[in-house]
Amino acid sequence: MMIAYLRYLVNSGSRHSVHSPFVYTLVDKVLRNKSENPAFHDIMKIRHKLLHKTQVIEITDFGVGANQKDYSHRFERVSSLARKSSVSTKHGRLLFRLVEFFRPQTIIELGTSLGISTLYLALANPKAKVYTIEGCSTKSEQAATSFNALKLSNIEQNIGRFDLVLPDVVKQAGNLDFAFIDGNHTYEATVENFKILLSIANNDTVFVFDDIHWSAGMQKAWNEISDHERVTVSIDLFRFGIVFLRKELSKQKFVIRF
Ligand SMILES: C[S@@+](CC[C@H](N)C(=O)[O-])C[C@H]1O[C@@H](n2cnc3c(N)ncnc32)[C@H](O)[C@@H]1O
Repeated sequence: MMIAYLRYLVNSGSRHSVHSPFVYTLVDKVLRNKSENPAFHDIMKIRHKLLHKTQVIEITDFGVGANQKDYSHRFERVSSLARKSSVSTKHGRLLFRLVEFFRPQTIIELGTSLGISTLYLALANPKAKVYTIEGCSTKSEQAATSFNALKLSNIEQNIGRFDLVLPDVVKQAGNLDFAFIDGNHTYEATVENFKILLSIANNDTVFVFDDIHWSAGMQKAWNEISDHERVTVSIDLFRFGIVFLRKELSKQKFVIRF
């Protein structure tokens, strides 16, 4: 990852090195947007509560096998889960701004965990329907408490392994405007889940992948996804990778400092 990061630092540019008007606007209005929003305060309060929650819960840990059939149970403090697995404030705000900017109506998230990223997605556009999937039911319960605390009614929680649940969610959603893929960080699952989601994607669908340089497998998945025939523009922000399918854009890969 260190080498990948050094490569990223050398290759990444600022908005001034971007010659695509679409990407320039995105960098200017979304990536470099530092404005506050009242929702950030609400999410910060929830995050803070979780970071101080001493309750120990039994969680399901998914293995790293291709179809994640290996899983085990262990006990962990909610505070520790919140610290280790939730999206950072910086990247959560980016998710929020992407949704605020593109106004997707149908959002699918893979990997709810305690629901912090889901809060950013759902609060950015209360009119959007957010389908979020999590394999561990106890984490899902914790997330539900946070969604209820903010009285959010635009989130549909789905509990189960992605390979078992995603096909049904895709059928139910029927259309996809925005996807956040943040779970099962293996090459096979990432590419497979992308292909399943592509079946309901439209010209304007935005895909955001987490941890694209986390492992050799994730790097391979990112390379393959950004090379995919339906993908036109890809943006590597090191932690997040964003892809667009817009046919009106010419195929180009961007590496942008974030
Ligand atoms: C990094 S965490 C998600 C964090 C969350 N998006 C946030 O930022 O608040 C990834 C989650 O994906 C779940 N997960 C991993 N593999 C899975 C699978 N195959 N099926 C269902 N859930 C899975 C894990 O249980 C974990 O809670």
